[in-house]
Amino acid sequence: MSLVYLNGEWLRPDQAVVSVFDRGFLFADGIYEVVPFYQGHPLLIDHHLERLERSLEAIDIPNPLSNDEWVSVLQTLAEQVPEANAIVYIQVTRGAEYPRAHLPSEDIEPTFMATASHWTPPTTTPPPVNVELLEDIRWHRCDIKSISLLGNIHLKREAHRKGGFEPILHRAGRITEGASCNYFIVKDEVIYTPPADELILAGITREWIIQLAHELGLELKEEAFSVEDLMQADECFLSSSTREVQPVGTVGEQLIADGKTGRITDQLAQAFRNSRPVSVEESTDEN
Ligand code: PDD
Repeated sequence: MSLVYLNGEWLRPDQAVVSVFDRGFLFADGIYEVVPFYQGHPLLIDHHLERLERSLEAIDIPNPLSNDEWVSVLQTLAEQVPEANAIVYIQVTRGAEYPRAHLPSEDIEPTFMATASHWTPPTTTPPPVNVELLEDIRWHRCDIKSISLLGNIHLKREAHRKGGFEPILHRAGRITEGASCNYFIVKDEVIYTPPADELILAGITREWIIQLAHELGLELKEEAFSVEDLMQADECFLSSSTREVQPVGTVGEQLIADGKTGRITDQLAQAFRNSRPVSVEESTDEN
């Protein structure tokens, strides 16, 4: 059983409790981060901790730990799961205070926790999935990794009801992102992904794919693209820390090209697997 790190203490999951007056519980007033570990080795942990700092700054919550302290906590958590193949979750809220009030007091102390769960990193490029085109109804600060995910959950459930793995969201015909991923298309050998503005979360996987594309000599543009561009794309894929590079075969009823994994998508998925801190293919993990 994995321990939970809560407010500086190591606790069993059944001991790890927070107040019902926590502003995370009452208002979703907090942020989170998700860091993948491969056999005990994190991928791009500095980037995740930088984004954690950015999210905290954006909503004016002090970072309760230094980066070195976070690294040590996350490492300890990752080592508790089988093969240390872990998805480590961090959450920081503004803290608890009574009585409930929208405006927080000045001296409130953040609540911070981290926990790890086991995952099996993909060893081959996964088969293409279907995604569902939906209108992006979320707020305009999607760059903050907020725990206020009601819009994302609502859209994920709607996509799921329609048979989609994820929604692909658009605002007035411009593609933004998914409920928990970023999107890329390929057209005439050029890769496009929406710019990292306030309408999307700047995914760490997205950023890494951009870097890998440059290293492979592929042309990539951080440029807005439309629903029409998506439907006429040669390839489409989504990305996240837990999905890495996931090919997309259909958007609703519409095939993307022939609906199979595209050549550039597969090239990037392989490059991603090769860029991991360790070769997971050698894992003896059978979970
Ligand atoms: N989600 N966009 C949104 C809205 C996300 O929630 C995520 C990640 C991403 C991709 O970010 P990254 O590449 O840094 O994982 C984009 C995580 C995995 C989650 O909520 O569990």
